Amino acid sequence: MPKIIFGTHHFHCKDNENLLDAFFRNKIDIPFSCRNGTCHACVTKVVSGSICEPSQSGLSKQLKESNHILPCRCYPEGDMVLSLPLIEDIFSQARVTSIEELSETIFSVSFKPDAETLEFKTGQFVNIRTKLDNKVRSYSITNHFQGSESIISIHVKRIDNGVFSQWVFENAEIGDELQVQYPLGASYDSNDNSVAGKLLIASGSGLGAAFAIAEASLMGEYHKEVQLVHVVKSEEDSYYLEELKNLSNQYPNFQFEILTDNDSSECVDSIFGKFELLENWEVYLYGNPKLVKASIQTARNKGVLEEKIISDAFEYAQTPEYFQSEEDSNKMEFV
Ligand code: FES
Repeated sequence: MPKIIFGTHHFHCKDNENLLDAFFRNKIDIPFSCRNGTCHACVTKVVSGSICEPSQSGLSKQLKESNHILPCRCYPEGDMVLSLPLIEDIFSQARVTSIEELSETIFSVSFKPDAETLEFKTGQFVNIRTKLDNKVRSYSITNHFQGSESIISIHVKRIDNGVFSQWVFENAEIGDELQVQYPLGASYDSNDNSVAGKLLIASGSGLGAAFAIAEASLMGEYHKEVQLVHVVKSEEDSYYLEELKNLSNQYPNFQFEILTDNDSSECVDSIFGKFELLENWEVYLYGNPKLVKASIQTARNKGVLEEKIISDAFEYAQTPEYFQSEEDSNKMEFV
C-alpha cells in the first residue's frame, strides 16, 4: 500500500482508494465538493512521487507544470509526499462591482479580477473563496465574455445558514474582495449552429447559466428552436421573468416554460414528453443533481447523442462519514 505524507500526517492509501477518500479516512479535512474531478476544490500539490495522468485532468497548464493534482481522481501508484497549495497558485483576487436583488431568494453578484483579463466561455463556472470561512464554493457564470473589460456575474441563492449566501444578502458591498478560481468546467455553449434545436433545463439558480447560453445562441444568429425550462419548487422561486419574456419577444424561435416540481421524474416526463425524438438536438442541464441525472437518461432515450448532453449538476459538499464532529477533524486550510 502506498505511503502518503501530508504535512505532519503519515498514512497509507488502500487499494482502489482515491487520495481524497484516504484523507477523509484519516480525518484530514481538505477543501472538496464534487468528489469526481469537476469542481477543482480539492487541488493539492505533489512534493514527490509519481503523478498519474487522470489526477491532472482538467487542470490548467500552470497547475499541471507545478505538480498539482486532484486527490479525488488520484489512485497513488507509489509513495507520495503532498502539501497544501499556495493560495496564489490557485486563486486570483477580484472585487465586487455590483450586487442586484433578482428575487427574495436570488441575488446576482458581479466582480472583476484585479489584474488580468479573464477569458471564459458562457456556461463555465468559478470557484469562490472568502475569508469568512475559507471554504470554496462553485457558481455558474451567468454572463458572456466581453473582452478586456469583462466582469463575471453569478447568481447566489439564499441558503439557510449558508455563510456565503448570508454575506451576499446582508453584508456584501461594492469593492469587497473575493478570491476566485476560474474559469472551470466543460459544460459551456458549444456554439454549434448546425444542431437541430437546443433544449435547456435548469432548476433554481441554474437558470443563470441556461439563460446565458440561450441568449448567446440567439445573439449568435442561431435560428432553430431554443427551448428553456426553469424548474422551481414553488412559484415564488421563479425569477428573471422579464428577461425571459424580452428574449421570447425578440426571438420568435425562443420559448420558455416555468415548471413547478416536487418530483424530478414527473417533471422530466413532462418536459421530454412533448418531443417524440430529439435527434441532433443539444440538451443543456443545470442544477438539481436528481433532475440532471433523470434528464440525461431520458435525453439518451430520445436519441440525443452523448456529446450533445451538456450537464452541470450542482452538488453540495457533504461531510464525509469519517467526520463525527467538527472537533473530530484535523482542519486544513490553504496556506
Ligand atoms: S475536483 Fe476533487 S472534490 Fe471536486
